[in-house]
Amino acid sequence: MPPPAPWPYPFWIAHRGAGKLAPENTLAAFRAGQARGYRMAECDVTLSADEQPFLLHDATLDRTTDGHGLAAGQSWATLAALDAGAWHGPRFRGERLPTLASLAEHARHSGLLLNLELKPGPGQAARTGAVVARVAAGLWAGLTPPLLSSFETASLAAARDAVEALPRALLLEHLATGWREAACGLGCIAIVVHHGALDADAIRQAHEAGLRVLSYTVNGAAEARRLRAAGIDGLITDAIDRFAPDTLG
Ligand code: G3P
Ligand code: MG
Repeated sequence: MPPPAPWPYPFWIAHRGAGKLAPENTLAAFRAGQARGYRMAECDVTLSADEQPFLLHDATLDRTTDGHGLAAGQSWATLAALDAGAWHGPRFRGERLPTLASLAEHARHSGLLLNLELKPGPGQAARTGAVVARVAAGLWAGLTPPLLSSFETASLAAARDAVEALPRALLLEHLATGWREAACGLGCIAIVVHHGALDADAIRQAHEAGLRVLSYTVNGAAEARRLRAAGIDGLITDAIDRFAPDTLG
């Protein structure tokens, strides 16, 4: 069995910040999770047309900002002026799309650990992986590195080629044939798998390949207990109010 890579991350990870309590992928969402004891958050990172890495889940702006259309086609100057909070509730009006730099600044001051999911716009998989890895390596120098994850193998390959030392994880909705070879071939230290696709045997197989196993998006107490009993290494959750890291470990 290969020795496991260093794993400095806690068990509980707040999804999209704490993206149900506050507008997802904004600094308000990270603060909401930290106020409830979460020491790590997952978030989605993409690129503007002029290669500014910033946080957004969807390819388009319409659901979570007052902008419209594809985000990848717009300059950072345009994106920076958008309201990314009012859609969630009036008290979040004026919340902005965070740059990766502003997230790193927040992390440096507050001790927050990050899982940065590479979320490329259409046709941007490799470029997103390479740019985010290079920028993140500079921003997190001297700190616990963020875990880079993606469903896009081209993004992970480009991140590896740009900054091999940054830890990576392959996101998987299903465990199709060849998942271990795919993750290990990309130099990943972990897989992040939809909870419905995981059981104790799959987790054991991953551990035997030297891979940690995280699961998304686990919001039910019974499912969290099942995965814990099966040997899972961490859970990504929206249920920040239900799962309290201080009491559950
Ligand atoms: O990174 C885990 C999870 O965030 C993947 O799905 O659509 O919420 O980004 P999604
Ligand atoms: Mg995500």
